[in-house]
Amino acid sequence: MKTQLNRRDWFKSTLALTAGIALTSSLTKELMAAPLSEAERSFFGLKTSDAQKVRLNSNENPYGPSEKAKKAVMESLSRGNRYAFNELEELKKIIATKEGVDASYILLGAGSGELLVQTGIAYGLEGGRVLSAYPTFPLLMNYAQQMKAAWDKVDLNEKLEHNYEALASAIKSDTRLVFSCNPNNPTGTVVSDSIVRGFCEEASKKTLVYADEAYLEFLDPSQQKSMVSLVQNNPNVVVSKTFSKIYGLAGLRIGYLVGQPDTLKKIAQYGDTISPSQTALAAAKASLGDEDFMKLTREKNSIARKVLTDYLDQKKIFYGKSLTNVVLFPAPKDGKKILSQLDEKGFLIRIWDYQGKEWCRVSIGTQDEMKNFVRAFDEVVA
Ligand SMILES: Cc1ncc(COP(=O)(O)O)c(C=O)c1O
Repeated sequence: MKTQLNRRDWFKSTLALTAGIALTSSLTKELMAAPLSEAERSFFGLKTSDAQKVRLNSNENPYGPSEKAKKAVMESLSRGNRYAFNELEELKKIIATKEGVDASYILLGAGSGELLVQTGIAYGLEGGRVLSAYPTFPLLMNYAQQMKAAWDKVDLNEKLEHNYEALASAIKSDTRLVFSCNPNNPTGTVVSDSIVRGFCEEASKKTLVYADEAYLEFLDPSQQKSMVSLVQNNPNVVVSKTFSKIYGLAGLRIGYLVGQPDTLKKIAQYGDTISPSQTALAAAKASLGDEDFMKLTREKNSIARKVLTDYLDQKKIFYGKSLTNVVLFPAPKDGKKILSQLDEKGFLIRIWDYQGKEWCRVSIGTQDEMKNFVRAFDEVVA
């Protein structure tokens, strides 16, 4: 493969992907946003329809979209026949002002996932290595691996947090990119911003640092210390954020990357210049800075999360100290049985494989959903 795909090659390979992939193909599994565990591989063929189930499997926001976002989407429908050139530039400017950078520092995507994919391709094509903690959200590394890069993984510490010291030591001469996820998925754990900042500053002298801040807004506003402030003086740091989580727009698909224009140019060449859609842009514009809705989500999420963590405390089950809408803990029994018995009771969760063990990853739903979930889970593992 050439070091860089030109646009025609890229469209050809995209076409091949969309035309040729059945959902069960191994490539799709490789590229799935969150890795499929052994338990899930064997269970997914058996599971019943998801339509009426409580979705505690994708870290979604059960309260979104906000009323403001819904109204904006309705209004945007009449512009659905038009490419969103103007709306795109307008939202970039609004985001740039919020982030304290020039609009040329913002790249929009159909979810931050699209930007993770593009970055994985852009840097993966260079060969060498990409580095991250494990487990974490693997989308970027999956794509980098499908190109030409190797993926180096550094285990979390015993509290299920990123081990930034170990990550720093794992950077090699051919490491092209380090992925840092704070707060992390699948654990919800958070490392103090001074440690993350120090890491980003040092690591970026050697390689690109991709700071994923998809869940940052779940923290108290006084604790939301973004790495965006590093970007102005550093072409080797990029930061992604999403409207999928705190704003509850996961299905509308919009997120953004903050980085220096030349760095963004390298990444953007593997994406579409007119993504995302009119509806997503309208919802994002209406949602941005909606402090009331963010506060509501934060407060309700932390009350509902406590239902789960109180249960785990009571059962003396270890878990990572999550400050977001997801909790990871060791599976008390066979993962496939947990998945299928919860499925029968109407609940969806994920099982992750890590260090030769199975782990339950449970997203936080509403307080009532979590009360019903712990009751069902207790019966399943009894
Ligand atoms: C850490 C992290 N980053 C990015 C994403 C991608 O989200 P989206 O594409 O909806 O912005 C997710 C999705 O769960 C995530 O957990």
